[in-house]
Amino acid sequence: MRAYGFKSNGGPEVLEEIQVPTPAPGPGQVLIEVAYAGVNFAEVQHRRGEFGEPDGPGGYDVPGLEVSGTVAALGTGATGPAVGEEVAAYLPAFGGYAEFAVADAEFVRPASGLPLAHAAGVPCVYPTAYGVLTDAGRLREGESVLIHAAAGGVGSAAARIARALGAAHVFGTVGSPGKTELATALGYDALFPREGSADAVRETTAGHGVDLVLDPVGGPVRRASLDVLAPFGRVVVYGDLGLHQDWTADAWDLWKNNRSIAGYNIGDVARRSPATIGEHLSRALSLLASGALPYAPPTVIPWTEVAETHRLFEAGATSGKTVLDIAGHAERSPA
Ligand SMILES: NC(=O)c1ccc[n+]([C@@H]2O[C@H](COP(=O)([O-])OP(=O)(O)OC[C@H]3O[C@@H](n4cnc5c(N)ncnc54)[C@H](OP(=O)(O)O)[C@@H]3O)[C@@H](O)[C@H]2O)c1
Repeated sequence: MRAYGFKSNGGPEVLEEIQVPTPAPGPGQVLIEVAYAGVNFAEVQHRRGEFGEPDGPGGYDVPGLEVSGTVAALGTGATGPAVGEEVAAYLPAFGGYAEFAVADAEFVRPASGLPLAHAAGVPCVYPTAYGVLTDAGRLREGESVLIHAAAGGVGSAAARIARALGAAHVFGTVGSPGKTELATALGYDALFPREGSADAVRETTAGHGVDLVLDPVGGPVRRASLDVLAPFGRVVVYGDLGLHQDWTADAWDLWKNNRSIAGYNIGDVARRSPATIGEHLSRALSLLASGALPYAPPTVIPWTEVAETHRLFEAGATSGKTVLDIAGHAERSPA
C-alpha cells in the first residue's frame, strides 16, 4: 500500500511517499481503508523525533493519529464495527498517513453519518478536548475558560465543547493578530493576541480572572495563565509548543493563591483507561452528526502535500482542522 513516512527524524523534507505492506488486524483490531487522515501537531513532534527514532517496517515510521474510512476486515474477537461500515478511529501507535490502518476496536466508532472528511479530525482532537476540559480541568457549568492556541485543532474543538458543557464565557489567545478575527466563527466570546493577553483577560473579566485555562504553549504563557486564575482556578497543561522544558511551578505560589495545575495526556489515558477515549469519541461523533455540537468544515489537502502542510503547522499558519485526502476524493470529484 501507499503511505507517507520517514526513516530519519528531521524537517518536513524527511516525509516521503513509500510502499509498505498492508497491515493485518491482530486480535481485537480493525483494518480500515482510510478515506481521510487528520493532521495534528503531535505528528510534527513525531517527525522531529520528540517521540523517539523511527523503527517501523523497513525502518520507516508512518505518522497519523486519527483517520476516517471504511472497515475492511476484523481481527479475531474484534467487536463493534462491521465490515463495510464507515468509521472514525484514534491510532495511539500512529499509522494514519496510509491507504490502510489498523486500530484497536475500542478506539473505533461509527462515523454516525458525519461526512468522512470531518470525521477524520475527531478521534484524537475531541477526546483530548473533552479530557482537558472535564477529566483534567473539571469544568463546571457557569465557569469561564481561557484557551491558548485557540484557533488550532484542539483549541477550536475545546471552545465549542466548553460552550456545550455550559461555560459562561470562553476566551482564547492566538499568536498572530489576523486570527483574532476568527473569534465568532470558532465560537469564542473574544480572542486576544497571546502577547499581553493576561492584561486583556483581567480587563475583560473586571479583574476576576478565569476558572480554567487550557495551555499547550508553556513557559511565559504558563506563568501568565496562573496569574489570571480566579480563586480555585485550574491550569491544564497538555503540551509544550514553545519547548520550555525547564519551566517549573512554584508550590508556594499555588497554595498561597488557591491555584492548581493539572496535566493531561491522551496516550496515557488510552493505555490506562481506553474506555474513556471510546466514550468521548462516541459522544463527540453523535453530537457533531446531530448538529448539537457546531463545527466548521475542515481544510482538505491532497496527501501529496503533506510536507508543505507540516511546514504550515510548524509556522502556526493553520487554523481549525486540517485533514489529508488519502483516498483521492478531490481528484475524483467533478469540477
Ligand atoms: N496532551 C495531549 O494528550 C495532547 C493531545 C493532542 C494535542 N496535544 C497538543 O495540543 C497542541 C495543539 O495541537 P493541535 O494538533 O491542535 O495543533 P494545531 O492545530 O497545529 O494548533 C497549534 C497552534 O498552536 C499555536 N502555537 C503556539 N506556539 C507555537 C509554536 N511554538 N509552534 C507552532 N505553533 C504554535 C499556533 O497558533 P497561534 O497562531 O495561535 O500561535 C498553532 O496554530 C500541541 O501542543 C499538541 O502537542 C496534546
